[in-house]
Amino acid sequence: MNARATVTPASAAADHIVLRLPQRQDGADLHDLIARCPPLDLNSRYAYLLLCEHHAATCVVAQVNGELAGAITAYILPAQPDTLFIWQVAVAPAMQGQRLGSRMLDHLAARCALSHGFRRIETTISPSNLGSRKLFNSYARRHHAGIEAKPFLGSSDFGKGQHEEEWLYQIGPGLCAV
Ligand SMILES: CC(C)(COP(=O)(O)OP(=O)(O)OC[C@H]1O[C@@H](n2cnc3c(N)ncnc32)[C@H](O)[C@@H]1OP(=O)(O)O)[C@@H](O)C(=O)NCCC(=O)NCCS
Repeated sequence: MNARATVTPASAAADHIVLRLPQRQDGADLHDLIARCPPLDLNSRYAYLLLCEHHAATCVVAQVNGELAGAITAYILPAQPDTLFIWQVAVAPAMQGQRLGSRMLDHLAARCALSHGFRRIETTISPSNLGSRKLFNSYARRHHAGIEAKPFLGSSDFGKGQHEEEWLYQIGPGLCAV
């Protein structure tokens, strides 16, 4: 399958949404999208260019009427090749609450299941990020998967800068519901 050309229409209303692999040309727009999606940490333009260049196969961008309106950045854990680690999920503020995040997650998981055969999804979520928690709980319910959470990075791990703690969420077969 040529995933670069994959178009995923889910409903008539969403026909103008294109889900595809990121390309180098998306790097700067991806950076600007993340900047508009607090509370996400904004990384450098260089970091997003590298994600597009090196990790495109495990990332997805959503174009709405030609504009970058959503993205998921992710990679396969080097020491756990059966695990897809989702780094950031971003939906442009005007598109939030319209299931774009869920569609991107379903699309990316289906594509990576084909290409990498992963069994488990992991992500980290700060306790205050209700939207992110709901997004992943909803994914687990839809796919009849278990979901477990445990403390991962404490505030002090981030050094002197203020940063909320991050919990590790694992989703997959054989796990319990949170
Ligand atoms: C979190 C985010 C990615 C969700 O994307 P979205 O397209 O708005 O989410 P969806 O419409 O697909 O909703 C999925 C589920 O989460 C729930 N949900 C989404 N955002 C929510 C919020 N802010 N508060 C409560 N529930 C929320 C929806 O009701 C839905 O639940 P359901 O399936 O039980 O009906 C998006 O709001 C966003 O970009 N937020 C800012 C950045 C961020 O926090 N990213 C996540 C951290 S990696």
